[in-house]
Parts: sequence; C-alpha cells; structure tokens
Amino acid sequence: MEPGEAEFKERFSLVGSNVKIFSGNAHPRLAYDICRYLGLPLGRSLASTFQNGETRVKIEETVRGKDVYIVQPICGRVNDSLVELLLMIDAVARASVKKVTAIIPYYGYEKQEKKTSGREPIAAKLFANIYTVAGVNRIITVDLHSAAIQGFFDIPVDNLTFFPLLFNYFEKKLKGEDIVVVSPDSGGVSRAKVFADQMRASLAIIFKRRNRPDQVEAIDFIGDVKGKTAIIIDDMISTGGTLIQASRILKQNGAERIFACATHPLLAGSAIKDIENSDIEEVVVADTVPLPIEAQRGKFLYLSVAPLIAESVRRVHYNLSVSMLFDWRKKYEANSD
Ligand code: R5P
Repeated sequence: MEPGEAEFKERFSLVGSNVKIFSGNAHPRLAYDICRYLGLPLGRSLASTFQNGETRVKIEETVRGKDVYIVQPICGRVNDSLVELLLMIDAVARASVKKVTAIIPYYGYEKQEKKTSGREPIAAKLFANIYTVAGVNRIITVDLHSAAIQGFFDIPVDNLTFFPLLFNYFEKKLKGEDIVVVSPDSGGVSRAKVFADQMRASLAIIFKRRNRPDQVEAIDFIGDVKGKTAIIIDDMISTGGTLIQASRILKQNGAERIFACATHPLLAGSAIKDIENSDIEEVVVADTVPLPIEAQRGKFLYLSVAPLIAESVRRVHYNLSVSMLFDWRKKYEANSD
C-alpha cells in the first residue's frame, strides 16, 4: 500500500455507509472479491428460473434509500445474464433505492456496436436503451470494445481500464528485453500504441480479415519483430483465432518470445486448447468474466480487476474523481490467486 493510501481508505471507508452490492449468477466470485476488498457483505438476492423458463429475481433484503451496485458481466449464458441483470435493476429501482449502478465488467453484445452491412441490428445501442428504461442511474464497465458505446447512454458510464495493470506486470516481468507491442488488427492500433508508448517499446500491426463470423485470417503485417519479445494486446479473446493467427505471423517473422494479453477471456469453443498448442508463451487476462478451470493453469495467468472496480465504487459513492484510477504508474493490488 502506498503512503497515504491507508489513510485514504480509512477516510473514505464504505463500511457503515448506505452502499449495498448485489450479484447476479454470471460472476459471483468477482462480486464477492469486490465486497471483500471494501469490507462489505455481499447483498442477499436470488436469481433462478421458473418452470416455464422465465427468469425469477428477488432482492432478499431492504434497499430503501441505499446506494445499490449490481455486479453482472454479460457472459456465460449471455441472454440469461442480460435478462437477470435487467430484472435486478428493475427490482431495486422499484424498491425506493437512492440510486442504482450496474457494474458490467464485460458489457456483452459490444462487438455489435455498428452496422457492418445492411439489415443488421446495433445491439450495443439497443441494450443501452433497455438498461436505461429498466432504471439504472450509472454504468461501471471495463475496456469497452469501442469507447463510442459510452455515448449510447445519457447517464454516466465509467469505462475503467485493465491496461495499467498489464503494464505493471510486463514492465517487471520483461525488464531489459527488446519489446515490440503488437496490435493483432487495425481496430486495435490506438490501444497498442498507448501501451507501446508506456512500455517504451516499438509497435507492429497485423491486418486481419474475417471471411466468416468467428473465422480469422491474418493477411499482412508491418513492423520489425526479428529477435524481439512480442506482446500482442487485444480487448477480448473469443475463439482465440485472432491471437493464434497473430502469433503465427510473428513467429514467421522471427519474434524470439511471444506473449499475449487481453481484458476479457471469453474463451469460446476450442480457444483454450488452441492457445495451449500455439507459440504463445503466456496469456495474461483479467477476471471480468469467470475463467474456466482449464484456463487457471498452463499458459494462462489472470490478474484481478476486483480492486480496480472496488476503488471505482468508493470514488463514485464519495463523488471523487474516477479518472485518477487510470494512472498507469499506480501500483494496483492486482491479486492473481
Ligand atoms: C475484434 O475486433 C476484437 O478486438 C478481438 O480481436 C476479437 O474479438 C477476438 O476474437 P477471436 O478470439 O474470436 O479472434
């Protein structure tokens, strides 16, 4: 803990405040870790299914006049997670809360944030409307696929970032190595550039094409990776195709060591097996969604965003600056148990 940090935590403690944190079924472990960090009990609630398949939600303690936070990434059984969250927001909003904040560490449907061809929905905008109609007053999320999604809301959206934690990790781990930061597609260049500048590393860019949804082909490459340690940086890993194609191209072009990192480890289909069999040495991810048991060993390492989210709750509650949390040089308590 930095000097002054203990005093800050004491002064702005949430113990004894009117803050209440609840969790849906998508990622109770993260909600519990956030509560543990803040010294608060997790609120009692129930989310189950009626026999006819409808979702049933009940908040099992009073929330009148409380500052309520509901933790629910849109992952796993994605549509169930989404409906559960909406019903929880509705339940607390109707129970005379002071305000309700949805903590959505992985926003879900965020790759559908624009039309890529005719007659497609803009799902990220539709669900922004629905969250607001349900009665949410604020959203806390982590590394939106596109920052423009913030603008889909007319309420505050705190888009926290995992990248300073990654920076702290790699700065120590790869000290003294000749590093190149790699964007695995053109959409990720600005993210990779910021990371490369912080690492004082060079930048390489891979261009990819998707012939079909969930199928990636790396088609071109610019940069110099020969003899270097490459860090591929992305916002999410879904099928793993993007990372695997990128690692192949880096290997062919003479990269010495290959690391990868991403905020959201969705790890769909055979992603874990494919990554384990790839040239990637280590993959560092956040716990914005639950990490499957098979990914809790081998090449995967996760750093928890629970302290980061917990600090944002503290700051939102006490009307303190949240952007202070985006300081790249701050050493977060990033548990990796
Ligand atoms: C794409 O724009 C995203 O930033 C990720 O690169 C992509 O979602 C990763 O998907 P996959 O692991 O299926 O290649």
